[in-house]
Order: sequence, then structure tokens, then C-alpha cells
Amino acid sequence: MNERLTKKIEQLKEQRKAVILAHNYQPGEIQDLADFTGDSLGLSIQAAETDAEVIVFCGVRFMAETAAILSPQKTVLLPEKTAGCPMADMITAEQLRGLKKQHPGAIVVCYVNSTAEVKAESDYCCTSSNAVEVVNSLPEDKRIIFVPDQHLGQFVAERTGRDMVLWPGYCTTHVLMTADDIRAAKAKYPDAVVMAHPECTEPVKELADELLSTGQMLKFAASGRAKTFIVASENGIIHALKKQNPDAEFIAASGRAICPNMKKITVDKIVASLEDMQYRITVPEEIRTRAERSLNRMVEILPSK
Ligand code: 13P
Ligand code: SF4
Repeated sequence: MNERLTKKIEQLKEQRKAVILAHNYQPGEIQDLADFTGDSLGLSIQAAETDAEVIVFCGVRFMAETAAILSPQKTVLLPEKTAGCPMADMITAEQLRGLKKQHPGAIVVCYVNSTAEVKAESDYCCTSSNAVEVVNSLPEDKRIIFVPDQHLGQFVAERTGRDMVLWPGYCTTHVLMTADDIRAAKAKYPDAVVMAHPECTEPVKELADELLSTGQMLKFAASGRAKTFIVASENGIIHALKKQNPDAEFIAASGRAICPNMKKITVDKIVASLEDMQYRITVPEEIRTRAERSLNRMVEILPSK
């Protein structure tokens, strides 16, 4: 990024009392200019704790919505209004109400990749880094409805041994990676450790050595237990991994694992966002308070890894 733009963003941030948060899947130059980068849980905690007046969220809509739910007094901006998450839109609040009717007495856990309305209909929220801990904290005699990601749900059901009803949602980017991609990468780099995101399909996860959220991948890579890693996740994470571990090698399991929505954020859009205070993300108060309850429960449960 050129010096003029860097200066401009610094000035605008000061003028607006703004902080820039970026998800680990953002383009490299956006990660580099952000005040804080992280996984969904880390970003939620950061959004709740920052004393800035304005949060510019470089990610997708549900992330900005989460920040608006947790910090209603702050102005939350999403630099590109069409940056959404297809998985989050795979279940509506009405569909979830129908599922609850089919399974009376079940506890609803929703992945943070969901709309504010779905969070409001849920008992607990979780991210990929604390989903196992959240489910393990629930009474053992209760059935659990898990929405919307079937693949994260499958992973949690296996790790916890719990009776879970899964919604057939999925990440349109993570499902593009195949078991053949992993086999080909392993054949080329036989000593590499395979890190896969729980949003990957089951055949991919079976071939992985570690199943980790993006934040957990960064921690695992920094632990020094290996020098070469095959990464089955959205490829933006490779930038963060390389930056934090310059001596290690990171190989993308597939060149197809690119989330087009995450890549909609650009430096120019961040400038426009701060200049024109756009696009403001708000959540109606009645939905916000109910969604906040399930999000607060999530923020309190930290991952063990
Ligand atoms: P995490 O960064 O929490 O692993 O989230 C993955 C994801 O798909 C976000 O959209
Ligand atoms: Fe949604 Fe997948 Fe993109 Fe994350 S990577 S925002 S889950 S489509």
C-alpha cells in the first residue's frame, strides 16, 4: 500500500476515533493495515472490549453484526455492503423455529456464522475455536440442535459424543477442497503436518493431523512442532501464518479455497467507509438483546487449545 493511503487512513482513524478489525481470511494488505486481526472469537472479544467509537469491520456481514450486537453504543461499519456469508444465509429464523418445534426441549447452539435473527432464536453461540467446549458445558441429558454448519457440527458430535441434530448448511469455500487435494499435497510434502479447518468435509478432515480454527492454526504453527504445513482452509490465513512464522513453510491444500466475499474488502473501500461512515450495520433492539444473550455465553467459554 502506498504511503499516501497509509497516512490518509491514519488521519481518518484519528478523526473518527476508529479501530480497524480484520479477519484472518482478509486480503494480505488489509490484514497488514488493521489494528487487530484474528479469528471469529478473537474479533468478537476485541469488538466488545475496544474503547474506540467506530469499528471498521473487514470481514463479512455476520461479523460486523456480531460487533453491533455486543457493542450497541459503537458505530460498526462494513466497508462493502454485499460482503455476506453464504453459510449464514442457509438457515432462517423461521426454519430454526420449525426445527425447535420438531425437537422440543433441545438446546440450540448456533455457529457465529449466522444471522442476528438466528442468534436471537438460539440458546448458545459458538465459533470453531470453542464449539467443543460450548457443547461439553451443556447438560448431558439434553439433545442439541446445531446450526447452520453440518461439517463443524459433525466434528463437534465426534469430539463430544453428544446426540446432535445437524442442519445441512456448509461453507461454499471450504467444501471446494477435496480428499484428492490433500493426498496430492501429502505426496509432494510427505513430512508436512496437515492443518484443516472443521468447516472442511469429512473426507478432508479424516486426512488431517490437526483440526483447528484459524486462530488455533496460528498458535499451533508458532508452537514449533513442525516446519512444513499443508493448510486446508481459506487461503487468506496463509498470509498471517507466513507473517508470524517466517521460517516455516505453508502450502495451500487447494488454490480454489478463496472466499469471494472476504475478498470484497479493498483499501479504497476502507477509506470511503471512514470518510462517509458507510455502511452502518445495526440490529433491531428486540433481536439484539436476545442475540446478545447467546453471544455472551460464547465469549465466556474459551477454547482449551
Ligand atoms: P475462524 O476464524 O473462527 O476459524 O472462522 C472461520 C470462518 O469461516 C469465518 O468465516
Ligand atoms: Fe462464510 Fe465460508 Fe466465507 Fe467464512 S469462508 S465467510 S464461512 S463462505
